Amino acid sequence: MSSRSRALPPALAALGVAALVSLPGQARADEPYAISGGVFMSLSFGQQLAFGLGADLRATALLNTGRPYGAGNMGLGPFAQATWLNFSAGRFAAGIHGGSDLSDDFVDVDHSIDGELGWTYRTRISDELPGQHGFHLGVVNTLFNPVCLDISARAVIPLSGEPFAPEGTFGVGLRFFSPFGFQSRPIDGRPLRTAEGVVLPPALALGPAAMRPARLDRATRAALAGAWLDSARAECGSIPAFLALARDLAAVGAPASLVARALAALGDEVRHAARCSEIASSLAGWRLRPALLPPPPARDADRRAALVRMALEAWHDGCLGEGAAAARARRSLAGASDAGVRAALGEVARDEAQHAELGWRVLAYCLAEGGREVREAVGDAMAGPAPAPPGDHVEVEGERKETQAFGQLRRAQADAAWDETWAAARRDGERMLVAA
Ligand SMILES: [Fe+2]
Ligand SMILES: [Fe+2]
Repeated sequence: MSSRSRALPPALAALGVAALVSLPGQARADEPYAISGGVFMSLSFGQQLAFGLGADLRATALLNTGRPYGAGNMGLGPFAQATWLNFSAGRFAAGIHGGSDLSDDFVDVDHSIDGELGWTYRTRISDELPGQHGFHLGVVNTLFNPVCLDISARAVIPLSGEPFAPEGTFGVGLRFFSPFGFQSRPIDGRPLRTAEGVVLPPALALGPAAMRPARLDRATRAALAGAWLDSARAECGSIPAFLALARDLAAVGAPASLVARALAALGDEVRHAARCSEIASSLAGWRLRPALLPPPPARDADRRAALVRMALEAWHDGCLGEGAAAARARRSLAGASDAGVRAALGEVARDEAQHAELGWRVLAYCLAEGGREVREAVGDAMAGPAPAPPGDHVEVEGERKETQAFGQLRRAQADAAWDETWAAARRDGERMLVAA
């Protein structure tokens, strides 16, 4: 075994496995419920040794505990299960399940514990084992998300018929979507918006990579790698977002110079994604890359609707989002000392400021073309309370000096960058509205 692979933090090896099977995830855990289903194999003992093949479906009403990334979500809801025993009999169970997500940050493996309580019925196996009702108890340990590994232990206490022999079952299965939903992820710069909401590209783990020579303990290194991988995914999401912007600008007949600037911004985001991936990979000792997603399909009913949507997105994602991304990058740069991190942050700070400036130009164009409807929509957006930043900023845990050297802000600093951007943008935006 090489020294490089020995140095791979176990949490990151697990992250790699999780990332390999990860699917595009909703960026925010805003949904108040989650649906989760899966298949499993089981072995039962007690009344008779039985091999089982089963399927399980559960719905969960979620209680978000407010921890970073939506980690720690708790929930409760119904479940239903069917198992085929020894290819001859059936066991059916239904009841209430409830538990909690136990992940603490992104680099940690998604992990949850779920308890089950309910009724169960087993069909007839033989003359000695006729059909029987029972009380169902279970606990399911789920790892990874959204394709999860389930390890379960269940017990049945007979409530009817003979014999009175409790039954135990161990199971292993594959589940789709954790019972406690997706975790939220921070968004840097222009988010990729689809009809279903903001989407963050999945990450791919492509094999071992050279480890960055830095004096960091394992936990800090892993947390920093996770934070930079999140940034790479967000930057990569900006690529199709700008492609869609260029297409939509062309479709509403915007000047060619605006379309060209959107395409130039796309090129910037390709560089940002590569820079951030390189930093994440060298911290992880593992080649980590975000996957490029296609642009969302055009979905505006007509030109007027397109102008209103583009004006609001220019305001929120460009003037505010990319303006704040530039402000955060400037603040990060002030504390960063790692040479590669400084180079990346310098580039991001400069480019994101230009993307925010592009946002202002798109907004001006939409205001000029869209008339009253656009003015009113944008006026409402500017008059309202400060919107929440897209995604949560999560402080990377670890020695402060080290996380700062690698470009990470404290939550208060990130919030200050957002507030400052919001105040300045609202002032400029209101002036622009009056002029329009
Ligand atoms: Fe960017
Ligand atoms: Fe950007």
